[in-house]
Amino acid sequence: MSLVRAEGLTARYPGQPVGMPALIDVNLELAAGERLLLLGPNGAGKSTFIRLFAGLMRAASGRALVAGQPARSARALVGVVSHATYLYDELSAAENLRLYAELYGVAQPADRVATVLSQVGMARLADVRVGRLSRGQQQRVTIARAVLHEPPVLLLDEPETGLDAAATGLIEHLTLGGGRTVVLTTHNLATGLRLGTHLAILSRGRIVYEQAGVSLSDLGALTDRLERLAR
Ligand SMILES: Nc1ncnc2c1ncn2[C@@H]1O[C@H](COP(=O)(O)OP(=O)(O)OP(=O)(O)O)[C@@H](O)[C@H]1O
Ligand SMILES: [Mg+2]
Repeated sequence: MSLVRAEGLTARYPGQPVGMPALIDVNLELAAGERLLLLGPNGAGKSTFIRLFAGLMRAASGRALVAGQPARSARALVGVVSHATYLYDELSAAENLRLYAELYGVAQPADRVATVLSQVGMARLADVRVGRLSRGQQQRVTIARAVLHEPPVLLLDEPETGLDAAATGLIEHLTLGGGRTVVLTTHNLATGLRLGTHLAILSRGRIVYEQAGVSLSDLGALTDRLERLAR
């Protein structure tokens, strides 16, 4: 069964012209363990695609399915890293994660929270209020939150934002480890090509190019293709 499946997926924000939705009739599927690198110029619809599969937005038509279920009722199967941290500033990193652990029904939440915080190098700062952490430190906590409940699907929307080289390595470890199914957007093509097994390019809401099997040797041709689309 495909873990991630878009069927005629179309999405529109309030106020968007009827003829120009953010996402238009997108069809694709990922089997367990496949990692999709989603590329495209600014405004192409990448974050919209991620939001739909994170269950944060409703489709105008078509379906976003996670393990065969509508994404909105499959949130426990999905971990999300995006620009929005979804953390509470007034709570500490550990308190934030305990909250999410409860929400997801994680077994032995205190142990699990300590484990993931240590995996992202934040054990020492576990009790500091998130509002007092740097952007990159907050992003590390966001990564810990995304994997807290060991979801089979990870959605990573420009996950490297604000991260130093060591934390970027963490993303790679998370993405490649554990046989997870991943959707990744990034403007760092070289990193993306190292992580993806498949790629799709969105332009103005439509998939305009797809490729199974991805390697760093595609860098030149893809850069040209993306530059042409951005014009
Ligand atoms: N909250 C919103 N309200 C209204 N329109 C939006 C909203 N978010 C995105 N859009 C519009 O939807 C389209 C797709 O945006 P989206 O954020 O999915 O692009 P993206 O591919 O993630 O771009 P970027 O590379 O800049 O992150 C754009 O035309 C954008 O203007
Ligand atoms: Mg985006």
